Amino acid sequence: MTKQTKRPMAPNVSVKELTHLDAETILQHFLRLNAHERYLRFGYSISSRSIKQLVAQHLSERGSFFFGVFWDGALVGLCHIARSEPPGTAEVALSVDADFKDQGIAHSLMRHALEQAQRQLYQSLLLSVLCANTAMLKSAAKFGFQIKVKMGQATGHLRIPRSTSDCALAD
Ligand SMILES: CC(C)(COP(=O)(O)OP(=O)(O)OC[C@H]1O[C@@H](n2cnc3c(N)ncnc32)[C@H](O)[C@@H]1OP(=O)(O)O)[C@@H](O)C(=O)NCCC(=O)NCCS
Repeated sequence: MTKQTKRPMAPNVSVKELTHLDAETILQHFLRLNAHERYLRFGYSISSRSIKQLVAQHLSERGSFFFGVFWDGALVGLCHIARSEPPGTAEVALSVDADFKDQGIAHSLMRHALEQAQRQLYQSLLLSVLCANTAMLKSAAKFGFQIKVKMGQATGHLRIPRSTSDCALAD
């Protein structure tokens, strides 16, 4: 993929938590992903219908939440956090609209994921990505995820610091 021109950082960029009232906004974001991006995001080829069902399911699950980066009022990046195993673990998954990639949006989402998971008293974050997903792996490495690779699949684990002040990450 060609590297896009960096957009000037606009003051009207915000991160917001999303609820069942935002189901359609979440769905439309996922439906804008092309087949390859969907594969990277969900780990398999998923139909639009299955995405719709998954969004409804995730919005009703305990310990599961979505938040997004809004640019001029439009959702351009989405993060989902869900309970995983072992207990105390939250799985994180991100996606960014094609026109907004490589602007640091995934980085911003990951930082918020860490803060949110910390608030929800999760003890560790889990990330599951394809080994070929350079952008996601680069971002995960910056947050200190310990990455293990098995058969083309990379799994990252990050112990969540007790407070944001323990976290050595810069913005
Ligand atoms: C992976 C994804 C979320 C990254 O989003 P993004 O907002 O473009 O990421 P960022 O701008 O925060 O960049 C993260 C790092 O990856 C790098 N990067 C971005 N696009 C890249 C690309 N195509 N190839 C290699 N590196 C890339 C950035 O330069 C940055 O590294 P740096 O901090 O060393 O400069 C986005 O590409 C995406 O939505 N992909 C499809 C879904 C997916 O793969 N989800 C992850 C599985 S859960």
